[in-house]
Amino acid sequence: MATNIIEFVFQRGEKKGRLRPVNRKDWGQIVGWWNDPEVRRLFDVHFVDQTFSDAEKWFAKAGSGEDERLPRSFVIEVEEDSKWLPVGTAEFYSERPSHKTAEFGFLIGDKMWWGKGIGTETAKRMVKYGLDQIGYKRIGAVSAGYNVRSLNALQKAGFQIEGIRKSYVFRDGQHHDQTVMSVIKP
Ligand SMILES: CC(C)(COP(=O)(O)OP(=O)(O)OC[C@H]1O[C@@H](n2cnc3c(N)ncnc32)[C@H](O)[C@@H]1OP(=O)(O)O)[C@@H](O)C(=O)NCCC(=O)NCCS
Repeated sequence: MATNIIEFVFQRGEKKGRLRPVNRKDWGQIVGWWNDPEVRRLFDVHFVDQTFSDAEKWFAKAGSGEDERLPRSFVIEVEEDSKWLPVGTAEFYSERPSHKTAEFGFLIGDKMWWGKGIGTETAKRMVKYGLDQIGYKRIGAVSAGYNVRSLNALQKAGFQIEGIRKSYVFRDGQHHDQTVMSVIKP
């Protein structure tokens, strides 16, 4: 296995996926995913249209995989016709090094790949990587209450619900609750 590439299988072991560190060549495509209204409705981090320079700031802060630390931001890829096709991202952000905590976020930007098990497998691998390799004590995640796939994928990856922030997300003309979750290293 190449350095910093995390492999997984999905669809009952029939398909291969992997997580590889983000590099700046990915930013244009990632900004396109962030700006897709259907994705943004579910992804809780970017509320307004994003630009290439927003991606630069985001990945500089989150860790781009090009520094000396273990990478924090990955592109999710699936194998199609013997090639690796980028379909989304997974990352740790808002890291607090002295507390050994970070937040986890994931998105599949290519919507034809939603609901096929990639998110669940990604979250499982990122939790293991974050706790065992980076050394986090706590990984947090948040999800709008209506984002069933996200809530389910996170819980299947070991996240437990800590509580609900009431009326925290304004979407589609009304307020919705946000679910706050975490996984703690024993
Ligand atoms: C959230 C996201 C990463 C989940 O990844 P995914 O690969 O689509 O999810 P999975 O296929 O692993 O499904 C997870 C669970 O959601 C549920 N689910 C799947 N498809 C569903 C659907 N169409 N409707 C409702 N629930 C569904 C299932 O319980 C599934 O578990 P199962 O495989 O045991 O049935 C992905 O859907 C996505 O990128 N959404 C847009 C951005 C986003 O929401 N990011 C997260 C913000 S916190």
